[in-house]
Amino acid sequence: MPRTVALPRTVGKVDRIIHGDARAVLDRLPKESVHLAITSPPYNLRIPYRGYTDDLPPEEYLAWLRGVWRALLRVLVPGGRFVLNVAPTSIKNFRPIHHDLSRDLRDLGFIMRTEIIWYKQTMGRRTAWGSWRSPSNPHIVPSWEYVLVFSKDQWRLPGDRAAIDIGPKEFEQFSDGFWPIPPERKRAGHPAPFPELLIERLVKFYSYRGNVVLDMFGGTGTVAAVARRLGRHYLHIDSSEEYCRIAAARVAAARPPPEYPIPPPVVRPGIARSERRGGAGTD
Ligand SMILES: C[S@@+](CC[C@H](N)C(=O)[O-])C[C@H]1O[C@@H](n2cnc3c(N)ncnc32)[C@H](O)[C@@H]1O
Repeated sequence: MPRTVALPRTVGKVDRIIHGDARAVLDRLPKESVHLAITSPPYNLRIPYRGYTDDLPPEEYLAWLRGVWRALLRVLVPGGRFVLNVAPTSIKNFRPIHHDLSRDLRDLGFIMRTEIIWYKQTMGRRTAWGSWRSPSNPHIVPSWEYVLVFSKDQWRLPGDRAAIDIGPKEFEQFSDGFWPIPPERKRAGHPAPFPELLIERLVKFYSYRGNVVLDMFGGTGTVAAVARRLGRHYLHIDSSEEYCRIAAARVAAARPPPEYPIPPPVVRPGIARSERRGGAGTD
């Protein structure tokens, strides 16, 4: 018989692809309705996403994200998790953006649980050595990204033991915080999609089947597709209509486990970008 987990505040509000601004949509979601959020925001590195330029002044960028994190805190359940993937910035002009972000999240009241090193195994493609074979100015290549993990209010996430799907070998492997996973090669028209393997690990390690999993910068829908395939409800937000279309097809194609028949996506049209990044009221 299909299992359903009590979702009193979220009934009818999950399993959606929402085209809109992250903060504006979060502000419309019910309080305490999400168990796990996994996201990778635009890195402010002039990456050519559809619909905007990714190059705010650093303080404005952080202030904009603080507004998003604050809105997220409201929608997480007590014990709910937030997983933030962020890469070190460029080789020559290194900015420890991960330190800024973890400071901001802790200042907002998130508990920082850990950081995972996602080792992308990309050294084969290295080109920038700095001063070759000389201590004068050699460069370290960022062959890794950070996966910063936070909780709201408490460390424990209550849940039904019968809804656990992580095996003993997986648990042992995932609890080692160094994760060698190659970057995604199938890009589906997006400059920076997550590899599914990374998201599978996070979803199994940090949530129960039947939970609600959110990505508010969802891109091509990796988090939502993996969540559905692993028997979790999903919410996907992205400001690009085109990425939302790609995500909808991808999530519709993901097959949920028979005992958790998570439905295909309802696609919601644009939610105004009243709080658009860089706009008024970012902090
Ligand atoms: C790093 S990408 C995420 C890629 C995603 N993890 C995937 O697997 O495809 C960041 C995404 O944020 C979206 N974005 C940028 N500004 C946004 C905003 N204000 N609200 C919602 N999404 C936004 C971009 O369209 C882009 O797809």
